[in-house]
Amino acid sequence: MNLSDKLGILHQLYFATSIAILPTCRAVLRSPSLLLRPHALSRVFMVHVWSQFGPGIDENTQGIKEALITPNAHGVVLDVGAGYGHTAKYLQAERVTKYVPLEPNVLMHDEIRKHAAEHGFTEANGKLLILSYGAQDTNLINSALGGENAVDSIVAVLTLCSIPSPKEVCESLFERVLKPGGTFVYYEHVQSPREDVAWWQWFWTPLWKKFFDGCCIDRPTHLWIDAMPFWAEKESKRQEDEPEGHLFHHRIGKYVKKA
Ligand SMILES: C[S@@+](CC[C@H](N)C(=O)[O-])C[C@H]1O[C@@H](n2cnc3c(N)ncnc32)[C@H](O)[C@@H]1O
Repeated sequence: MNLSDKLGILHQLYFATSIAILPTCRAVLRSPSLLLRPHALSRVFMVHVWSQFGPGIDENTQGIKEALITPNAHGVVLDVGAGYGHTAKYLQAERVTKYVPLEPNVLMHDEIRKHAAEHGFTEANGKLLILSYGAQDTNLINSALGGENAVDSIVAVLTLCSIPSPKEVCESLFERVLKPGGTFVYYEHVQSPREDVAWWQWFWTPLWKKFFDGCCIDRPTHLWIDAMPFWAEKESKRQEDEPEGHLFHHRIGKYVKKA
């Protein structure tokens, strides 16, 4: 690893903070009680961070998403941690009966609506259902969808790094929300297989997660998912064009649940 691999994250932190700090301060001036609600404050910050970073990241990963999401997402699609709803543009309107963005940060919902509508998913035509729950709220998700195992496809893009108790929450989503025979696809940053990189990921995570809504860069999410007993088919690989010393080590996965 070179020095910029180890310390480059500080530059990203500085850049994100310089973008989000002013609008976040303005929000505090409008609503000072935010200072007593650190989680709500962190979500305001994240909205501004993602409005700057989200479109660029989406553009840079377009090829990966077209190969991963477009051919595999069908029927009722649950987009875990939908952010601004960038996933909508990778869905084929004729194969997807309902787009269900799961996004606990309600400040992002207007943008989800806008992106979804551009691709044929609206509440008026019955093809959009925005849920403001977290991935851990399995019971609420199921009751909003009319029962257990009602989802044909689960999509997770850069989200499993932020959810609480990720292993248990994923197990619950796969067991109780995904249909037998359904598909799960992810594009996530995970713990690096290289020990030196993994050490730096571990080192920076406590600081990084404070700024980015709980985002942990040191989770071996791919290993947890691989080891789960639900799969009839599983396929996962690293993002090949990414330097090995990179702190954000991305993986791409496609899984089919046993029928
Ligand atoms: C880095 S953004 C990615 C957004 C989107 N998937 C994309 O690729 O543009 C992570 C998202 O996860 C959401 N999130 C945070 N905690 C969550 C939870 N417990 N359950 C579901 N989503 C969560 C955040 O609000 C944020 O929108």
